[in-house]
Amino acid sequence: MTVAVGRVTLEHPVVNGSGTLDALAAEAAGLHVAAELAAVVTKTVTPLPRAGNPPPRIAETPAGMLNSIGLANPGIDAFRSTVLPRMRALGRPLVVSIGGFAPNQYASLAAALRDEDGIVALELNVSCPNVESGCLSIGSDPNETRSVTARCAEAAGDLPVWVKLSPNVADVGVMARAAEEGGADALVAVNTLRGAAFDRASGAPLLGGPGGGLSGPAVRPVALSAVAACRAATSLPIVGSGGVGSGQDALAFLDAGASAVAVGTAAFREPLLARRVREELAGLLAAGAGRPSRAESRARSAQPSTAA
Ligand SMILES: Cc1cc2nc3c(=O)[nH]c(=O)nc-3n(C[C@H](O)[C@H](O)[C@H](O)COP(=O)(O)O)c2cc1C
Repeated sequence: MTVAVGRVTLEHPVVNGSGTLDALAAEAAGLHVAAELAAVVTKTVTPLPRAGNPPPRIAETPAGMLNSIGLANPGIDAFRSTVLPRMRALGRPLVVSIGGFAPNQYASLAAALRDEDGIVALELNVSCPNVESGCLSIGSDPNETRSVTARCAEAAGDLPVWVKLSPNVADVGVMARAAEEGGADALVAVNTLRGAAFDRASGAPLLGGPGGGLSGPAVRPVALSAVAACRAATSLPIVGSGGVGSGQDALAFLDAGASAVAVGTAAFREPLLARRVREELAGLLAAGAGRPSRAESRARSAQPSTAA
């Protein structure tokens, strides 16, 4: 089950989606979720503390949920002094998600984290749909994406840089290529799909923030399509994210061209979902051993024939 995501070797292909797991709170509640993950991905951390958006921050939809958390986090200084040491103590490889509102903020976060122990990669969140500015506006522009990635790759030293892409763009392949040109080690595809909900009686928005992000089973086909587009556009390894709720779902992402998957919304119902996904995936891969994935088949058919 070991997989390589660029320079990072994971014990198996299942990690968590940024912002969907408080691994420390889970541990305190006796749920050893971190142990089930090949790497623990942190909530996105920003330069300054953020309280996040006004409530309500969550609304259910028939096949998923909308969130408008607004990147609530303690800021990089408190993250380094209080959160990171406790996360390190979980004993799992850490991927730290960083986000900002201008390119220099990403680079300064990367520089602040480059020498911290226990971190195996940085994940650039250039795809959050529920903050006023920055973030997704960077990830919607190939020049900004290329430049932010390049600045972070330089500032991060030897730390690999993953770029988390948004489905809210005309062509995710263009952003994937920009990230690759900027020196990304891997892509994470995708963040939430922009969404909204309104109260039927009052007509008022159901979410308190400036926008919402749709996640869960509803976004899985969108995420699969984005992974396939990234696979076609680049040779970077991809972590698939969007509606993973079973080993079968994970296999669909591998077939689309991903090397690993992130579990998010579905784990709210089943906190130890990562274990089931890993076990089901292992069973499916063993049963279909030798079956070339669609991605492999495509790569093979793209190679020039050496037959006489
Ligand atoms: C409540 C919530 C908070 C999230 N916070 C973040 C975040 O801080 N940074 C980030 O990159 N993605 C964030 N995401 C996006 C998830 O990591 C994931 O990419 C997305 O939800 C799709 O996967 P899923 O359908 O399995 O949840 C968040 C998603 C949810 C539902």
